[in-house]
This record gives sequence, structure tokens and C-alpha cells, in this order.
Amino acid sequence: MNSQVAEREMTSMTSQRTGQPVTRNEQVGHDLSVRVRDLSLWYGEHQALHNVNIDIYQKNVTALIGPSGCGKSTFLRCLNRMNDLIRNVRIQGRVEMDGRDVNEPKMDEVALRRRVGMVFQKPNPFPKSIFENVAYAPRMHDLVSRKADQDELVERSLRDAGLWEEVKDKLHQPGTSLSGGQQQRLCIARAIAVQPDVILMDEPTSALDPISTATIEDLMDKLKKQFTIVTVTHNMQQAARVADYTAFFHLGEIIEYNDTKTMFSNPHTKKAEDYITGRFG
Ligand SMILES: Nc1ncnc2c1ncn2[C@@H]1O[C@H](COP(=O)(O)OP(=O)(O)O)[C@@H](O)[C@H]1O
Ligand SMILES: [Mg+2]
Repeated sequence: MNSQVAEREMTSMTSQRTGQPVTRNEQVGHDLSVRVRDLSLWYGEHQALHNVNIDIYQKNVTALIGPSGCGKSTFLRCLNRMNDLIRNVRIQGRVEMDGRDVNEPKMDEVALRRRVGMVFQKPNPFPKSIFENVAYAPRMHDLVSRKADQDELVERSLRDAGLWEEVKDKLHQPGTSLSGGQQQRLCIARAIAVQPDVILMDEPTSALDPISTATIEDLMDKLKKQFTIVTVTHNMQQAARVADYTAFFHLGEIIEYNDTKTMFSNPHTKKAEDYITGRFG
């Protein structure tokens, strides 16, 4: 992207106080996927997110960076209401998809989690076959009923996750029999099988060796043609390689949000610069 233009755009996007909603980054042609406004979250008495504002763009990779405990995972879980599963959580503010707040009482959580899938740090295939790991959720959501459709969807998802060639002859072996890197791609296949809009990835490569990591990074680059990806990483090179946009979190706030090129070549805040250059964190 044209970083100067994007920079100007991003600056206007992050000056939320104007109250002017921006649904499209016109110059670069990116449509809005998720709009977050004044999002705060408390675990009991402890406030973990402070007035977070961000526009996440469709079919881009957005990286969340920042020191441990700054709220990256908490923020990610707000996007598909996974914090609902944690006791004593209180949330204020808005997380909008298609103009609807995901926290509104009428929101169907099951449908939301179909639209916003998640991949975790530690690959966590179900204790089922490779085939079932991918076929289960689409069946549950009634996306496929005929056996032939199911077979086709499993193959397509595994192909899109870059795993098909390695597993096509052993689809009925347990998912857990695969290597760590393969298991993570299986989890990605499982996530994309229900055709979500957004895929959340929480440090998806931090448990993997460098070759598996490179494979997943390449995959993210391909998947963003179809999906919006929001990923957490502690690896600055990874953020610089895979992300179009980067948000720097510190103590539960977004200190800087910018296109990745600007963030890494010309950060606008001292804190982001210090973190990126390894001076703290
Ligand atoms: N389930 C939880 N219950 C209470 N506090 C939590 C919980 N999860 C995270 N926290 C706290 O919220 C803050 C943000 O944590 P987290 O979102 O996991 O940060 P990060 O992913 O950036 O390392 C930390 O202070 C952490 O201790
Ligand atoms: Mg985390």
C-alpha cells in the first residue's frame, strides 16, 4: 500500500473523537470488517482494556503487538465474545460487525463464532480423525448434509490450509497423530471450513519450529485473499512480514495503530518505537 496515504488515513481513523465513522480506507480500497469503539474490559476489579478504538479492515492481516499482559488476548476474545466464557468479566463499549454490536443481547453467539473463528497458540485438534476435525463444525452449522458435499468441503479446506497433500491418504487417522506444524494447519482448516469472515490467531506460531512458522506465515498471506485475519505475535519480524496493519498495545491501551510499514520504519510514538527496537517488553 501507499504508506504515506495510508498513514494519513490511519491517523484520521484513530482520531476517533471526531465521531465520524469511517467505513472504508478509500485510497487503498479497504473495507471495514470490525469497528471497535471505546472498548473497556474488567476482570473483577482489574481493568484489562482501556477505551480501545480500532477499525479492522477486510481481507487484510492486522497484527497486535505489545508486551505480555498488555491485553492482546483479551482484546482478541472480545471480537467473538469468548470472554463471555470467563467469570466476572464486565465489558463496556462497542464491537461492531456490519453495524451491529456483537454484545447486544439479541446477537446469536453461535452464529457469531461461526463468522469469527479462532486459532490458538497451542494446536488443539479434537480427539477425532483429521477428516472429522474439519467436517464436524460445518455439519453442526448445517452447512453440508450430503456426504459428497462434506468430502468436497474437507478437501477444499485442507487444500486452502496447505495440508491436503500431506494428509489425503490418512484422513481417518487421529488429528493428534500429526506434527505440531501440521496440527496447526489442521486447526486452520477447521477454522476456515465454516467460511468465517474473520480468523483470530493468538500467537499461532509461537509453539512451532522455524520451518512450520514460515509455512503458516505463507499461509496467512494466501488466506487474506478470502478472510480478514487478526493475529497476535511477539515476533516483530513476523509482524513486519505478514501484517498490513499493526496495532501496538501497552497496559490495555492501543498506543499506536498504523500501516505496518509506517509502524516499523517510522513509528509515531516513542513507546512503540522503544518496543519495536527491543528497548522494553
Ligand atoms: N481470565 C482472566 N482472569 C483475570 N485476569 C485475566 C484473565 N486473563 C487475562 N487477565 C489479565 O488481564 C491482563 C491482560 O492479559 P492478556 O489479555 O492475556 O494479555 P496478553 O495476551 O497481551 O499477554 C493481564 O493483567 C492478565 O493478568
Ligand atoms: Mg496473550
